[in-house]
Amino acid sequence: MKIAVSGKGGAGKSTVSAQLVRCFTLNQMPVFAVDADPDANLGLVLGLDPEKLAGLRPLIELQEVIEAKNAGGGTFVDLNPNVDDVLEDYTLQEGFLRFLKMGALKQGGSACYCKENSFLNAVLTTMLLDRPEAVVLDMSAGIEHLTRGTARGVKMMLVVVEPTRAGVSTAKAVDRLAADLEIEQVLFVGNKIRSAEDRIYLESSLPADRFAGMIPFNDQVLEKARRGEPVVSTLEDLLPGLDMIYTMACGR
Ligand SMILES: Nc1ncnc2c1ncn2[C@@H]1O[C@H](COP(=O)(O)OP(=O)(O)O)[C@@H](O)[C@H]1O
Ligand SMILES: [Mg+2]
Repeated sequence: MKIAVSGKGGAGKSTVSAQLVRCFTLNQMPVFAVDADPDANLGLVLGLDPEKLAGLRPLIELQEVIEAKNAGGGTFVDLNPNVDDVLEDYTLQEGFLRFLKMGALKQGGSACYCKENSFLNAVLTTMLLDRPEAVVLDMSAGIEHLTRGTARGVKMMLVVVEPTRAGVSTAKAVDRLAADLEIEQVLFVGNKIRSAEDRIYLESSLPADRFAGMIPFNDQVLEKARRGEPVVSTLEDLLPGLDMIYTMACGR
């Protein structure tokens, strides 16, 4: 199962991504957890060692690897280099989990970062289209790492949305981007729901039949974030509201 998670900053993308990642690992299913948000915090929410996380290089910064994978040199860009070794060497591994950071795509005036960006694309292609492991992609609202090609591998995109005007506005924008990429299934996840009004607000602002679930506001989540504890340690910790997704993704 290959899942992408998007939404506004602070909406709960990393929190939701961590639920899914742990649903896989706690059910002994191998999974790639990919932090593709430039404002990267998935590793911490998963409870990975902060020192190891700080030492993990984002893929976009692997200059020497990127050059080696483009051995043709010059203007030649190998569109499909083998990157299985990258998924071995530049991931934090812990049981069934492999964690990696993409880093921000390079965009710049006159400079062409074709090699860097096509390298990230090759890694995503391998994970989404070739490898058997599950994938959870924690992405910013721009979902800029995905292309038409890699989007074909995404079975489901979850757009996390808080019950606010700004949250809904961003969710609609993400939904349009996802439609442009022809992502198979795009579902909304309401988060930090405190009342029936919150739920009604979201269901009347976005297509109600496309909600995969609503996650209540939960003081424990914040408390764990304050203490730097993982948001999920056992299957019992999985937040309510996403049962349909847990069942589809990891058979819980
Ligand atoms: N259901 C929830 N209840 C309470 N706090 C939450 C909930 N979901 C997320 N949070 C908190 O909101 C903040 C932003 O969540 P995070 O997952 O980091 O968002 P994002 O990755 O979208 O920027 C964090 O402090 C997190 O602990
Ligand atoms: Mg995040």
